[in-house]
Formats: sequence, structure tokens, C-alpha cells
Amino acid sequence: MRIIIANKSHASYAEIICKNIEESAKVRGTGIARRTPEYIINKMEKGNAVIALDGEKFAGFCYIETWSHEKYVANSGLIVHPDYRKQGLAKDIKQVIFDHSRKKYPNAKIFGITTGLAVMKINYELGYQPVTFSELTDDESFWKGCQTCKNYDVLTRTDHKMCLCTGMMYDPEKKKEEKKKNNKVSKFNDKTFQRLKHIKQTLFYKKEKAEKE
Ligand SMILES: CC(C)(COP(=O)(O)OP(=O)(O)OC[C@H]1O[C@@H](n2cnc3c(N)ncnc32)[C@H](O)[C@@H]1OP(=O)(O)O)[C@@H](O)C(=O)NCCC(=O)NCCS
Repeated sequence: MRIIIANKSHASYAEIICKNIEESAKVRGTGIARRTPEYIINKMEKGNAVIALDGEKFAGFCYIETWSHEKYVANSGLIVHPDYRKQGLAKDIKQVIFDHSRKKYPNAKIFGITTGLAVMKINYELGYQPVTFSELTDDESFWKGCQTCKNYDVLTRTDHKMCLCTGMMYDPEKKKEEKKKNNKVSKFNDKTFQRLKHIKQTLFYKKEKAEKE
């Protein structure tokens, strides 16, 4: 398996990447920021994407987005082809794109929002911490990406303060301070995150149901 920074020579994989993202979103029953092959190719050409290839076969992908004049960076669109899941590939892809992001945008805060437990776990191990939505970028175009999610009404209803997703962030400044203090990071607790997700679902879906009645 090769996990590499993609370039324009990988443009032929853009279609399959988009198809994989769309099909996975359907299976998960979630909405997702829709991406066109042109958008993916643009990321590859700018050196802002990572691709995993098993020989010539597509195995996984992730790309970098920058917000608020490069003060914030998101590693988005993570996808692992179903044939290659549960083998640690997402973890490896995220490590490569994280290292690449740190090198290319050393002062940026790296963040993501997700409902996926696997992604939360990986992010946590990379040094991300859960944060409130108010700590994320206020760049309108980032939040526009949520419009295709089926939970978008929750986000608007809460005035962009919370949603089903959990926001997580790697703040290089905070990391420097933590290092100085030699703070130890505790282990990721699946149960806490699962419980948080469950509470949010109960809270928001109940309200949604009540409003429909
Ligand atoms: C989510 C996804 C990227 C995970 O890819 P993967 O290669 O199977 O993940 P890994 O094997 O690297 O697993 C990383 C960790 O998450 C855990 N994990 C993997 N899939 C999981 C799942 N569905 N639920 C809970 N935990 C999961 C693994 O056990 C592993 O934990 P460990 O280090 O304690 O063993 C993949 O399932 C996928 O492409 N899904 C569809 C798209 C998607 O959801 N993208 C994320 C959008 S935010």
C-alpha cells in the first residue's frame, strides 16, 4: 500500500473518489458536503490531497481545506474503500495528511466536525481536543458545506451553536503550552463520545418530532 501526496497524475481517480464518498454517505444515512471530480482534481493539483493506492487500485483519500485566510485547516473528505476498511488505513491516511498540513500550514489550527466514532478516535490520537462550534472558523463558506447534510435544520435551529457532529481541533499554540507543562493526554474514551452522540440525538430528534406533531 502506498500513501502519497496526490498530484495531477492522479486526476483519473477523481471520479471513483466522488462515487465512494457518495455511496458511503447513502449507507450511513448522513448528508455530506458534495464534491465534484473537478474539485478533487484541483486539490490534487495544489498538493492538498493524500491518496492511498494498492498497486493501481484506489484504496483511500483525504484532502486539505483552508479557511479564514489559512488560519484554520480542515482535513476533509476522508474515505476508505470498503475492501480496505478496519485495517488501520484511515489512521495512516490521517497521519500523513496531518503531518503534511502541519508542514504546509504550521501556524494553522487543524479542525474537523464529525459524527463518526472512528474519525473522533483517530483525531483524538493525533492530538485534537473536542471544542464548541464557536471555537471553529466563522468562515461562511465552511458552514455552507453543511447545507447538504440531513441534520442542517438542527444547525440552523441552534444558531450554529451545536449539531449532531462533534467539533475537534488541534491548536498548535495550546500544544506548545501543554508540552511545556508536560501534560499527559488521557486515553480516548469511546463510551463518553457514544453517550454524547446519543444525548444529542435524543435531544434534537425529540424536538424535531414534537415540532412535526
Ligand atoms: C470511517 C472510515 C474512514 C474508517 O476507515 P478504516 O480504515 O476502517 O479505519 P481504521 O481501520 O484506521 O480504524 C481507526 C480506528 O477506528 C475504529 N473504527 C473503524 N471503523 C469504525 C466504526 N465504523 N465504528 C467505530 N469505530 C471504528 C477502529 O477500530 C480503529 O480503532 P483502534 O485504533 O482502537 O483499533 C471508513 O469506514 C469510511 O470510509 N467510511 C465512510 C466515510 C466516512 O464515514 N468518512 C468520515 C467522514 S467524517
